[in-house]
Amino acid sequence: METVNQTTGKDVLLPDDTIEAFRAKAADTPHPRELIVDLLRAIQDHHGWVPDAGIELAAQTLGLSPLQIEEIATFYDKIYRQPVGRKVIHLCDSICCWTTGGEQVAELLRDKLGIGFGETTPDGVFTLLPTCCLGACGDAPAMMIGLTTYGRLTAEKIDTILREIRQQID
Ligand code: FES
Repeated sequence: METVNQTTGKDVLLPDDTIEAFRAKAADTPHPRELIVDLLRAIQDHHGWVPDAGIELAAQTLGLSPLQIEEIATFYDKIYRQPVGRKVIHLCDSICCWTTGGEQVAELLRDKLGIGFGETTPDGVFTLLPTCCLGACGDAPAMMIGLTTYGRLTAEKIDTILREIRQQID
């Protein structure tokens, strides 16, 4: 993944061909707003998070205003407007999880990672964030990392998940 243009030294938010593909799609649809989330996700997948320049890029690409893009970017809690770790843990704090030990799970995660909510581990691997219901209430307490939801969390299960993720990215 190239994140810095070797010639200009500037951040590469998205490869040129991907930008062109979104531009073509936007020209082909009566409602380019429908593409905002996909484009922001693409920027985030490539760059790690969505800086102000990413909002500008999305606006230019889709022919929309930066405000229209920002409205969507700040509505979705899985679009990151600040730098995050390589893996973001979204721990559910809604009612089913809260009543099935969510607070203890939160404490476990804070202890194991050595960080609070909204913080990133010093090695840059994990960011811990609270989130509303993940739709996994039957498996509460639950958390999501990337596109994977983990339920029925216990101390042992959390140890295994964190260890396996660290092994994958080492
Ligand atoms: Fe936690 Fe629904 S309340 S997944």
